[in-house]
Amino acid sequence: MNITNLRTLHMSEPLGIDACPYFSWHIESDAENVLQEAYQIMIQDDEGDVWDGGEVESRQQSFVAYGGPPLKSRTRYQWRVTVWDNQGNHASAESWFETAIMERGHWAGKWIESTLPRRSGEPYRYGTQPPPVLFTKAFCVKKAVQSARLRATAYGTYIAYVNGEKADDRAFAPEHTVYRNILYYQTYDVAGLLKKGDNALGMYVGDGWYFCPQSQPLGGERREMPAVLFQLELTYTDGTTETIASDGTEQCCTGPVVFSDIFRGEKQDATLGFGVKQPVKAADCGYQHLYAQPMPPVRPMRLMPATSIYRSPKGEWIVDFGQLLCGRARIHIRESKGTELTFEYFEATQKDGSYFNSMYADQKDIYIADGSPCEYEACFTFHGFRYIRVTGMENPALSDFTAVLLTSEKENAGAFECSDERLSRLYKNIRWSQANNMLSIPTDCPSRERAGFTGDIQIYARTALLNENVTPFLSSWLANLAADQTDEGVVPITVPLTKVYENLMLRNAVAFGDETITGVAGWGDAAVMVPYQMYRVTGNTRILEVHYDTMRRWCDYIIKTAGEKRGPNPLPPEIDRYLWNTGFHFGEWLIPSQPESGGDFEICKQSAAYIAPIFGYRSVQMMAEIAAVLARPEQAYYEGTANKMKNAIQIGLMCGGNMPEELMGAYVLPIALGLVPEQYKNRFGDKLVDLLKRNGGCLDTGFLATPYLLDALMKIDRRDLALQVLWQDKQPSWLFEVDHGATAIWESWFGMATDGTPKMTSYDHYAFGCVDEWIFRNIAGIECNAPGFKHFTVRPMPDAPLEWCKRSFISEYGEIRVEWTKTSLMVRVPCNTTATIHWQGKAHEVGSGRYCF
Ligand code: BGC
Repeated sequence: MNITNLRTLHMSEPLGIDACPYFSWHIESDAENVLQEAYQIMIQDDEGDVWDGGEVESRQQSFVAYGGPPLKSRTRYQWRVTVWDNQGNHASAESWFETAIMERGHWAGKWIESTLPRRSGEPYRYGTQPPPVLFTKAFCVKKAVQSARLRATAYGTYIAYVNGEKADDRAFAPEHTVYRNILYYQTYDVAGLLKKGDNALGMYVGDGWYFCPQSQPLGGERREMPAVLFQLELTYTDGTTETIASDGTEQCCTGPVVFSDIFRGEKQDATLGFGVKQPVKAADCGYQHLYAQPMPPVRPMRLMPATSIYRSPKGEWIVDFGQLLCGRARIHIRESKGTELTFEYFEATQKDGSYFNSMYADQKDIYIADGSPCEYEACFTFHGFRYIRVTGMENPALSDFTAVLLTSEKENAGAFECSDERLSRLYKNIRWSQANNMLSIPTDCPSRERAGFTGDIQIYARTALLNENVTPFLSSWLANLAADQTDEGVVPITVPLTKVYENLMLRNAVAFGDETITGVAGWGDAAVMVPYQMYRVTGNTRILEVHYDTMRRWCDYIIKTAGEKRGPNPLPPEIDRYLWNTGFHFGEWLIPSQPESGGDFEICKQSAAYIAPIFGYRSVQMMAEIAAVLARPEQAYYEGTANKMKNAIQIGLMCGGNMPEELMGAYVLPIALGLVPEQYKNRFGDKLVDLLKRNGGCLDTGFLATPYLLDALMKIDRRDLALQVLWQDKQPSWLFEVDHGATAIWESWFGMATDGTPKMTSYDHYAFGCVDEWIFRNIAGIECNAPGFKHFTVRPMPDAPLEWCKRSFISEYGEIRVEWTKTSLMVRVPCNTTATIHWQGKAHEVGSGRYCF
């Protein structure tokens, strides 16, 4: 038996945490039926034992909370876990974590800000943004350094340098948060970059999200100037310590980046050096919103060399990376001094291979060469792209271009492959959209809005969890969601909620007679859905505890709104008061057969008639389940209310004839969620089949109903139709996209016409990638029966049109693996879990091990 994968707060050896840690580990063994009988956690620091949790008889091996005395600031702790199994074995393993600043008073650094004149960028006007500012500090290291930790943060987005070298390879520190409440600081190990004698520390600060008009944060005291805070904590080999902190003696200047917008792009002029250094000013930003970054950073996670370079019929140089990704390119420059090069990033070409901007906005970087060969990469911006149009380069060569994927670092947890290359490609596309839309926060797309749309992750969270360790990432985002919840309980359509989307929410609310922003069904529900799925997939009850109030306040908002406001249909008040049927909603959103809304959202109304009541019910019903998990007294209230909401949907909407007759989603959701009254079951099932047939076997569901479509078909015993929809290759369908060269998941099913004509849309939205979760449960056949996959069922679908299929998933307990062919099955069950395997008509109850049938 081996103990592996030790994690603290789901991170491997985190360098600077300020939250109370919890621990996880995996058990590996060649033996079968291994169960953990007990564990013991012991923690030490340099001075000796800190905590001995004692031998705990338990099968828990994840989210095991630290229970010792308060942890000290800036301290490295070693932890050791010993595990006893049910077969007389025991084993131990060790890991460590470091605390950051556990008490505000331990901040030695002072906030300082730029004194350089600054213009403010005009919204959406390329090139109007101010230049980034370089803050510098010179200092002397007098003795040999044993360890060095730099803690830093900024208003703006910064790159930290020590003696001209980047402190690490992260991008976009301090990440995108609800800045008026939460600002992360970062911890770097910079011992290797320091030298005895004179040293220099630099922080180069671009506008980032904070100053970008498109992502302008709400409220709080808005800073006008880029500001930084840092402290370098040195421990010398002789045991003495010294802290070098920002104190107002720093200087600031501009550098080669002439302007920069995190979304639109930036211009770098290599002929410019750094400007004249100016003094800085003290800034009064306080320490009360500072938190150690609780998740791994955005990093360059993959390098992709260009796959082709060609001249379009219009004479443009186009570089193709063969894959849509989020990030930017590293480009070899050999041009003569003063040559201006333009790089325009884009997602899809015109039919003839020429440049096409599908985004209503630029994604453009400009570089002015200084005559010396170099590798250029933009500093403070990112793009969603597969192609670059290159202007001004004498002889661009394929080998000059490498794309860099920028995404929050996350451990891989999933793999899928099967005998149908198109389905395997679909899975790859899903994974790419997941990577491309998790840069600091979960976004809608990496090229257009790049906003933390709550609806998109509400749909996709479960799929995300089945593919990567997103626990720190989603936990971080949920803390921001809680910060953005209004006093009334409204959870906004984006988190962080920015000025642009607050205005949009307000406009929409007012159009529906409300005075302040109102909750949007399917979007705000992320407040409940995301923690709930984290709990289901990983057994994370901690996240339910932490966000219990946020979830409650969202559900109470729904219940209150339903109770107070009468809907459009003449219904008895005792029914109507349980229907959330007022206010603005996006409805199902993007239903293929519905004409474009033209921006007025008029089309959303029709599907909102069932979306709001059903999603409202769904959240309250989940809330009841969550209250039960946590043994909270409100459980009965939420369960009772959910039942009344269900009853109101059945009587007021379904029996009352108040459902739109011809929208597929109006049948899909009630069937999938078990809402159809007995006497209507056949009618609803028949109608869904009929609608599907009339639509040529193609789906006609939008954002919010698509995740339930294949389940609804399974529920009415039409597995044949579920498979037909999945394997459909007429438009709209998943495989149409694959057949038409998609390398990520499109926002619109009609992203490209059959003849290859592209459309104004995003080619990189993960929402419809949620079908992976259905494939996981049905084609691979892995169903989670107890939170965290402590018990699971394997029931492959060998009659699917596949010769073989392989799916693996690294659960909290270790790897689950299913590989089947028409005649064989291999299942890996991780230690400390059990499974029921269905194969050829027989059920097998098994413990951990590797089983072949
Ligand atoms: C985004 C979506 C989002 C929607 C709702 C779109 O522009 O790209 O994914 O959820 O707006 O407003």
